[in-house]
Amino acid sequence: MTKKYVLALDQGTTSSRAILFDHAGLIRGIAQHPFRQIYPQPGWVEHDPREIASSQLGVVTEVLVSSGVRPEEVDSIGITNQRETTIVWNRETGEPVYNAIVWQCRRTTDIVEAVCGDPAVAARVTAKTGLVPDAYFSASKIKWILDNVEGAREAAEEGKLAFGTVDTWLIWQLTGGAVHATDVTNASRTMLFDIHKGTWDQELLDLFGIPASMLPEVRSSSGDFGVTAYPGMPQGIPIRGVAGDQQAALFGQCCTQAGRAKNTYGTGCFLLMHTGSTPVASSHGLVTTVAASAPGVQGLEYALEGSVFVAGALVQWLRDELGIISSASESEELARSVDDTAGVYVVPAFTGLGAPYWDSEARGAILGLTRGANRAHIVRAALESMAFQVADVAHTMEKDSGIAITELNVDGGASGNDFLLQFQSDILGASLNRPKVIESTGAGAAFLAGLATGFWEDMAQILALREHDDHFTPKMDAEEREGLMAGWHEAVRRVMTK
Ligand code: G3P
Repeated sequence: MTKKYVLALDQGTTSSRAILFDHAGLIRGIAQHPFRQIYPQPGWVEHDPREIASSQLGVVTEVLVSSGVRPEEVDSIGITNQRETTIVWNRETGEPVYNAIVWQCRRTTDIVEAVCGDPAVAARVTAKTGLVPDAYFSASKIKWILDNVEGAREAAEEGKLAFGTVDTWLIWQLTGGAVHATDVTNASRTMLFDIHKGTWDQELLDLFGIPASMLPEVRSSSGDFGVTAYPGMPQGIPIRGVAGDQQAALFGQCCTQAGRAKNTYGTGCFLLMHTGSTPVASSHGLVTTVAASAPGVQGLEYALEGSVFVAGALVQWLRDELGIISSASESEELARSVDDTAGVYVVPAFTGLGAPYWDSEARGAILGLTRGANRAHIVRAALESMAFQVADVAHTMEKDSGIAITELNVDGGASGNDFLLQFQSDILGASLNRPKVIESTGAGAAFLAGLATGFWEDMAQILALREHDDHFTPKMDAEEREGLMAGWHEAVRRVMTK
């Protein structure tokens, strides 16, 4: 076989990565470049779209050179990306009209309130898109650009501007402007996409005042997105897989059937459960989103998604702000050095509390301190707080879906922490599977591309690649679990403002 690798481009919030996967699903090369975070005002977050593109294209060349792989050996490219982040550019010049407005940016809170403040309108938006009206999603960010960048609205109405999430921007760049397309998973995060019909929705476009001519074509996640034609880069490599990073991780974890769930421990946590061909509506503030499908699947597939705002960021905070650990890996050792937290709870509500509490005014706290409490107890309580938060989201998801989570697939940086995973399994009362390759996001993008070209035959072949997972099974008895959860809920109650 001359084609030996699939190249995943993982364009994340803080860095661009390129990962080469071989036929066994193993990583054969990886290159990563951080890029600039721009904070023009408190609560505002931007990226320079040119830096997104140059850092991403730079790591492609770097990974090929550093791993000694010839471009002819690359079967295809899969793209996965930070979702919702919004870029608008001029179709003729290819120049962005403004910086990328990042998913974390809160500048459009007032726009969302003005557009969706009426509960009947909000309910209609949620019914169509599966999303809770919020500045997080792309629609209000596009509106902000059209309303605030001089000449943008006129140019958009004349059909001169293109909108894209980061996947679309990269596809445009890579194909030399030949393809203006996105995939169903990214489209489902814009708040302009009817997730039941699988099409852009004119009523939502009118609501946010966005001309339909700006929108990319929506395609399946595993299929044809053109070929590379970017100067200075290997030419003619097919782009065959595209998915937002959380849906890519769900796919990479082989969660392609109803009830299968994954949790990614990153800066925050993203827990997604596949719900098959049924979009399950949440009664507890989770969002309904489109999942990435393997080729040949008819119609759309869906997932329920819940997020924990602060997870790995808490370990960084212990290291950088509190200074009670010198490295993230030290947290595991310290947590294990004590039998329990001595009644200490950390509630990391730095930016409020998400599902199922939804209290944006709540702030973090360390509770239950006694004279004997030391840094090991606090560090252990911090790690445990990640697991409590994931358990809260998981229980919410079980209520919404009616499906018990008996097995959770885990990935992301902090999933390397065995203490955390054992405690997570204990507190959830569920088994955890950690794949050998914890780069599930990149793997998902690669699988989507490789399935489209025939590099991998089918899902069964990909599932077989996972046989060497690490497993964690619950060892805690129900009484202890309930006692700890009750203590956590009491701690949360004490930081809540409503
Ligand atoms: O919805 C935002 C999410 O896609 C960002 O993921 O990994 O880039 O922080 P990440």
